[in-house]
Amino acid sequence: MTDHLTVVDHPLVQHKLTLMRDKGTSTAGFRRLLREITQLLAYEITREMPLTTTNIETPMEEMEAPILAGKKLALVSILRAGNGMLDGVLELIPSARVGFVGLYRDEETLEPVQYYFKAPEGLKDRLVIAVDPMLATGNSSAAAVDLLKEAGANNIRFLCLLASPEGVARMKQAHPDVPIVTASLDREINAKGYILPGLGDAGDRMFGTK
Ligand code: URA
Repeated sequence: MTDHLTVVDHPLVQHKLTLMRDKGTSTAGFRRLLREITQLLAYEITREMPLTTTNIETPMEEMEAPILAGKKLALVSILRAGNGMLDGVLELIPSARVGFVGLYRDEETLEPVQYYFKAPEGLKDRLVIAVDPMLATGNSSAAAVDLLKEAGANNIRFLCLLASPEGVARMKQAHPDVPIVTASLDREINAKGYILPGLGDAGDRMFGTK
């Protein structure tokens, strides 16, 4: 993956994203759509995973058949909204290892502060896909990637549903080696760090909180 940003413009992704943006969409609908779109985005972000071959017998004959090479990939959910994407990717790649990063924003410094970090072992030998639906200011995403690199990861990709120009620029400056795959590059963020036109608070919409 050579581009820093890939916007997946597949018609199914765009259609489902419109339904998710609509404020009339129910919590159950939002969750289901997020799972479905995530699978389509995951298809794109894993496109260049290396393959090797294994010898198998079909009912007809022997063959050297393609199979994924190397260690199982690691999915890392950036809490809490990342969990809504995790389920979708895990349905597609059930053997993936899973980690979690929890960050909150310090109200005085506005800097992200870590409250939880748990990653699978051997990160340095795995493709690591960090998931968070909203790449808004990019501060917590960049901090999460910092933590993953400190833990040894050196092949990281970032999967989100919506990205803002500000978030993409922040990630490019902090982590130019981390490709981003998203369903949309939206217009901007507002003063409170929400993406416009966006879809509101992704965590609240998927968990039915306010
Ligand atoms: N997080 C959200 O849930 N929504 C935004 O618009 C920005 C960050």
